[in-house]
Amino acid sequence: MKAVHLQKFGKPEKAFALVDIDKPKCPREGVLVKVEGFGLNFADIMARTGLYPDCPPLPAVLGYDVVGIVEEVGQGVKHFKVGQRVTALTRFGGYAEYAVCDPRAIAVVDDMPIGKAMALTTQYSTAWQCFYNSFRIGHGDKVLIHAAMGGVGSALAQMALHEGAEVYATAGSDEKIQALKRLGVHHAINYRKEDFFEVIKKKGVHLDVVFDSIGGSSVKKGCKLLGAGGSMVLYGAAQFNGSNLFKKISTFLQFGFYHPINFMSKSQSMIGVNMLRLADYKAEKIQACLKGVVKGVQEGWLDPLVGGVYPIEDLAKAHNDLGQRKTTGKLTVTW
Ligand SMILES: NC(=O)c1ccc[n+]([C@@H]2O[C@H](COP(=O)([O-])OP(=O)(O)OC[C@H]3O[C@@H](n4cnc5c(N)ncnc54)[C@H](OP(=O)(O)O)[C@@H]3O)[C@@H](O)[C@H]2O)c1
Repeated sequence: MKAVHLQKFGKPEKAFALVDIDKPKCPREGVLVKVEGFGLNFADIMARTGLYPDCPPLPAVLGYDVVGIVEEVGQGVKHFKVGQRVTALTRFGGYAEYAVCDPRAIAVVDDMPIGKAMALTTQYSTAWQCFYNSFRIGHGDKVLIHAAMGGVGSALAQMALHEGAEVYATAGSDEKIQALKRLGVHHAINYRKEDFFEVIKKKGVHLDVVFDSIGGSSVKKGCKLLGAGGSMVLYGAAQFNGSNLFKKISTFLQFGFYHPINFMSKSQSMIGVNMLRLADYKAEKIQACLKGVVKGVQEGWLDPLVGGVYPIEDLAKAHNDLGQRKTTGKLTVTW
C-alpha cells in the first residue's frame, strides 16, 4: 500500500516521501480501515519540525485520524461490520492507504462529508472531553476560549453556546473575529490588537472557565481572571511552537508557579487534558466522546468547520497552510 513517511525533520516539501509499504494485518481486537482520507493536526506540524515528544522514531507514518471504509474486523470485535463508513482515531499510521484502528476509537459516519467527519475524532472529541467530562458549565456561566477559530476552539465555542454560556473568545485576525461573531460568540477579542486580560478585567468580569491551548503567560493571565469555583482547562501549548530554546524556557517560566493551597483557598481548579494518555489508559472515555460528538452533529447543534480538503499531491501545501495559521477548521488529505 501507499503511505507517507516522515523521513526527516524540516520543511514539508523535503520532510515527507511517498513510499510503498506492507498493508497492516488486522489484529484480533482491531479494525482495518481502507482510508479515504486522513486528517492533519497541529501535533503533525510539531512532529515534522522535531518538537513532538510522542513522535515515533523516523521514518514514521504520522496521522491521528482517518475516514474510510471498514475493510476487515478482528475476531474479537463485536460492534463493527465490513463496509461501514467510519471516522477513527489512529495512534500514528493515519497517513496511509490502510490503517489499523482500536474499535473504542471509531464511530460510524455514514455519508457525512469527509471534512466534517474528520473533525469529529481529534478536535471535537478533545473539545468534548474538555467541556463535558471535566465539570458542568451552565446557563450564563462566563467562559473564555482561546484560539477559538481553531478546530478544538471552534468546537468548544459551539458547545459553550449550546449550553447557554456567555462566551469570550480570542483569535488572531479580523476575519476570524468576524467568523466568531457569526458563530454567535458574545465577546470576540483580536489578541493581536488588544490584550484579552485587560479587556476582560476592565469589564470587572470573573470567569467560570478558561480553555487554553496557548500556554505561557496566557495561562497565568487566565488564572487571574477566574472567579471563585472557576477552572482553567489546559489542553495545548502552542506558544512553544517554532521557538528556540531561550524562548521555550521563557514560555515555561511565564506559565507561573502554583501552589495547591491557592487552588483550595480560591475554590479553583486546573485541569489538564491529553487525549493520548486517555486513549492509553481509559479508551472507553474516547468512545464516550465520539458518541457525544456524532450525536451533536446529527442533532444539528454541532457543525464542524472544514478548513480544506487537499489531494495527496498537495500534502506539503496543506502542512504549510496549517503551520502558517492560514486555515480555520479541519484539514483533510485524500488519497
Ligand atoms: N490535549 C490534547 O489531547 C489535544 C488534542 C488535540 C489538539 N490539541 C492541541 O490543541 C491546540 C489546537 O489544536 P487544533 O487542532 O484546534 O489546531 P488549529 O485548528 O490549528 O488551531 C490552532 C490555533 O491556535 C492559534 N495559535 C495561537 N498561537 C499559536 C502558535 N504559536 N502557533 C500556532 N497556532 C497558534 C491559531 O489561531 P489564531 O490565528 O487565532 O491565533 C491557530 O489557528 C493545539 O495546540 C493542539 O496541539 C491537544
